[in-house]
Amino acid sequence: MSNTIAVVYHSGYGHTKVIAEAVAQGVEEANAQVQLISVDEVDNHWDDLAQAKGIIFGSPTYMGSVSAGFKGFMDKSSKVWAEQGWKDKLAAGFTNSGSQSGDKLNTLIQMSVFAAQQSMIWVSLGLMPGNNSSKGSPEDLNRIGSYLGAMAQSNTDQGADETPPNTDKETAKLLGKRMAETAARFH
Ligand SMILES: Cc1cc2nc3c(=O)[nH]c(=O)nc-3n(C[C@H](O)[C@H](O)[C@H](O)COP(=O)(O)O)c2cc1C
Repeated sequence: MSNTIAVVYHSGYGHTKVIAEAVAQGVEEANAQVQLISVDEVDNHWDDLAQAKGIIFGSPTYMGSVSAGFKGFMDKSSKVWAEQGWKDKLAAGFTNSGSQSGDKLNTLIQMSVFAAQQSMIWVSLGLMPGNNSSKGSPEDLNRIGSYLGAMAQSNTDQGADETPPNTDKETAKLLGKRMAETAARFH
């Protein structure tokens, strides 16, 4: 098995890609190698995924669930499932959407159920919720208050160069860092 953490993501309009890049940066800052894989090119990377120490899944929330692009990847992975090829590999997830909630939790639940079907081991976000008291602020890490994975919010009238905000990128980085550190301990 390589020393690499893979980040497999879909992004229709670039906003979730920005978060995927932040997650990847967090992996690297924890001195691990990272491979950023768009679901559009996943067919060139099944061997890389088999070798990775952990896989972090990322999707925008579309219609309250993972995007069709990401679901396509999930369904293609049924060949891996049949052989339980990712059994005991670490997994984590992140999502991004237009609303503060927007039913993002459902997307992370889908990813964690998917990971369970693949007999993977789920790594949670590991951050206390921010922006939930009189002293809190929207600049806080984990401002959306997620536990299962990293959540980001992108304003629907702005491009990926303007939104999501830095605090969501920093939160995403910490998911990547936690995955890399957990993988180092686990292996
Ligand atoms: C088809 C579609 C469905 C969407 N459904 C939701 C939704 O259920 N909840 C939400 O908060 N935002 C929703 N949005 C907004 C996107 O999640 C948001 O624009 C996000 O930043 C898009 O990420 P992307 O640029 O990586 O595709 C939807 C957008 C599209 C295009």
